[in-house]
Amino acid sequence: LNYRVPRTRGDIIQTLIKGLLRLEYRGYDSAGVAVDGPGKDHTANISLYKKTGKVKALDEEIYKNNSIDLEAELDTHFGIAHTRWATHGEPSSLNSHPQRSDKNNEFVVIHNGIITNYKELKKYLVSKGYEFESDTDTEVIPKLIKYLYDNRENDYVSFSTLVERVIQQLEGAFALVFKSIHFPGEAVATRRGSPLLIGVRSQYELSTDEIPVQYNCGDSRRDEQEKNLLNQVGSTNALHSVHDRLAVEFYFASDASAIIEHTNKVVYLEDDDVAVVVEGKLSVHRVKRKVGEDHVRLIQTLQVELQQIMKGNFEAFMQKEIFEQPESVFNTMRGRICFDSNIVLLGGLSDHLKEIKRCRRLIVIGCGTSYHAGVATRQILEELTELPVMVELASDFLDRITPVFRDDVCFFISQSGETADTLMALRYCKKRGALTVGVTNTVGSSICRETDCGVHINAGPEVGVASTKAYTSQFVSLIMFGLMMSEDRLSMQPRRLEIINGLKKLPELIKEVLALDDIIKSLADELHHQKSLLVMGRGYNYATCLEGALKIKEITYMHSEGIMAGELKHGPLALIDKHMPVIMIIMKDACYQKCHNALQQVTARQGRPIIICCQDDPEISKMAYKTIELPQTVDCLQGILSVIPLQLMSFHLAVLRGYDVDCPRNLAKSVTVE
Ligand code: G6P
Repeated sequence: LNYRVPRTRGDIIQTLIKGLLRLEYRGYDSAGVAVDGPGKDHTANISLYKKTGKVKALDEEIYKNNSIDLEAELDTHFGIAHTRWATHGEPSSLNSHPQRSDKNNEFVVIHNGIITNYKELKKYLVSKGYEFESDTDTEVIPKLIKYLYDNRENDYVSFSTLVERVIQQLEGAFALVFKSIHFPGEAVATRRGSPLLIGVRSQYELSTDEIPVQYNCGDSRRDEQEKNLLNQVGSTNALHSVHDRLAVEFYFASDASAIIEHTNKVVYLEDDDVAVVVEGKLSVHRVKRKVGEDHVRLIQTLQVELQQIMKGNFEAFMQKEIFEQPESVFNTMRGRICFDSNIVLLGGLSDHLKEIKRCRRLIVIGCGTSYHAGVATRQILEELTELPVMVELASDFLDRITPVFRDDVCFFISQSGETADTLMALRYCKKRGALTVGVTNTVGSSICRETDCGVHINAGPEVGVASTKAYTSQFVSLIMFGLMMSEDRLSMQPRRLEIINGLKKLPELIKEVLALDDIIKSLADELHHQKSLLVMGRGYNYATCLEGALKIKEITYMHSEGIMAGELKHGPLALIDKHMPVIMIIMKDACYQKCHNALQQVTARQGRPIIICCQDDPEISKMAYKTIELPQTVDCLQGILSVIPLQLMSFHLAVLRGYDVDCPRNLAKSVTVE
């Protein structure tokens, strides 16, 4: 929303489209935009453009459309846009957002999340004569707000009061932005469970760094008060001084990457906050105050640079992120490990360390790649903490109604910090009194905010849907936690020293592995017509098999399975013949001999495995079809190196098969629905 900042309609549409392109990794099956309509009184109607496919298709559609006056200069304008990852209803123009209240577009809404009670609401609204045009859960929202508007008690009802009433009826998760012809130049946004932030850009210094929350919502007298306030200059609720209000822009977005090129000043909304911009002033409202709740929302300064979310010279974000790992892993350790004194300090955990040391077990919870980081570090955490460690998929953990106790410590691993399953598991554990620890890559995310303490992995923004650098940084963070826990155990000092020295050398060793890119590319050349690819290993490298197979599935659409080599003889061996492509990971660690046995079982069935092994291992090389030879590091860190060839392999396979690496079909980077 630009308030008294003159812009052409074309500029506004471009700002929206650019924002969508930056958010495209969250969903890309269809997209839409709503802007103020044509005509002299441009706010009296709303123009909607929607299109199946990626954002680029929407952009082209808009520019093909001759009826839009792109040159028109607008002093104040509010536009909304959305890119979709379908939950209810197939990707189509009708199902994409903005969803609307009626053919006149009186109210239009964009939604991220899922409305679980939409069927009941729809039934009610249909009984009141409202006609639905899409298969989405979202459509009940614009219909409901129009219903409340049409049946308002007073002549004047504020936009935010209507939205407060709407969300009282909604169940599920949502981040919503509303636009209406009845409230020109006004924007209302709200959230519950799904992330939403507001960027503020003003040509003047902001006169405050916090916004007071107002608790007078749901009260019809407020509408009267608000009406009066609107007529006064410098109202008490103003975010800005009178000066600032002369020209200000607000950007509502699901994450910071969409807005960072415009401003780094942001306000994160809390669940059930209703934020409203009227006359260029932002205020935040809640129905009632909960005990212990913050009564202000801070305006924070983001540290992310635009540079960090650009592709640079790489073909894809995923490729860039794979090659960033020497730096990202270094950044995870920076300032946290003292290599002279062998002290590891994770500042975000230090206040709770005593409590963590007293706990009865550690539970590590995540989804997808983040879950694999838990699998990868389980053994070393058990060794260093001498505690039982459970590693859980968030969805399954909840399905089982797993017993959790006050003396449990629960870790929530999440790159985005917004994954709905992980967030639900966090709330579940919190309710049962466990100490909760977040391990995330996104400052200000829901998991960051809702956990008792945490570690920021500092990998830098990750844009590619297939997670790469976040995995290795999560891995290193969990190892650092183990080292911190074992600092006062005398018997563990030699092991700690070995690991700390290993960590120090890690960035250089990662560079050596990345130098194998050409070898891996030529292997991908041989493999890219295959239907299937098995990845086998055990011990410290089992997680690499799971993670490698996930990367291959995600972006190449080949069937791939990570197999625990110990289980080979209990089933998977039946798949082996001379045609089945197999990758085996056999490093020089405690499982070496057992992996060797598995290798023999494979070659005895004419299998011709590609083997990821240590440099100078003639024994293995002679049994391999091809080898990828890695530098050796400490056993518990080897998985950080062994995963990189599989990240590169999946990237090359996807390119050779002609797929869009950064936007794999049917997937989204941040899954904010259960
Ligand atoms: C989605 C992504 C995966 C990711 C998983 C967990 O499925 O496509 O790449 O590993 O979510 O995401 P999180 O942000 O919680 O790490």
